[in-house]
Amino acid sequence: MERFISTCEQETRDIAKNFAKTLSEGSVVALIGDLGAGKTAFTKGVAEFFDVDDDVSSPTFTIVNEYNGKKTVYHFDAYRLENVKTDDCDWLDDYFFGNGICLVEWAQNIEDILPNGYFKVEIKKDPSKGDDYREIFIEKTEK
Ligand SMILES: Nc1ncnc2c1ncn2[C@@H]1O[C@H](COP(=O)(O)OP(=O)(O)O)[C@@H](O)[C@H]1O
Ligand SMILES: [Mg+2]
Repeated sequence: MERFISTCEQETRDIAKNFAKTLSEGSVVALIGDLGAGKTAFTKGVAEFFDVDDDVSSPTFTIVNEYNGKKTVYHFDAYRLENVKTDDCDWLDDYFFGNGICLVEWAQNIEDILPNGYFKVEIKKDPSKGDDYREIFIEKTEK
């Protein structure tokens, strides 16, 4: 597990951009953190690494956004997928076992259906250290 400290949004994007070097076709990144933690900011950094031109924002009304850069990047928001049955998620497998790079906000809601060996990125605030302070933990799961 790697641990990073970020003290502003740009730093989170830079950490993500650097992390993106380790991604390849079919990689899945689970983004865990409260509202406003920086999951979308992190996604922006990854998208930047892949030279995505599209605007990156939480796909709150669509579940998934597709961005096209050097590689195809799929950006999910699983916030409203809480309590969905695994059977109802077959359509997601096409993404998670496909060739694009998948980033999933609120991934804990669909952890059961993530493929083995996904990257888990946890972003934590610490109010005692200021509004902009974030701890970012990155690990590749074995699941
Ligand atoms: N260190 C930091 N890393 C990421 N975002 C930060 C940081 N400090 C402040 N922010 C702000 O927090 C907010 C994070 O928003 P966003 O990335 O949309 O969060 P989420 O997708 O997790 O809800 C942005 O307004 C951003 O400018
Ligand atoms: Mg978001």
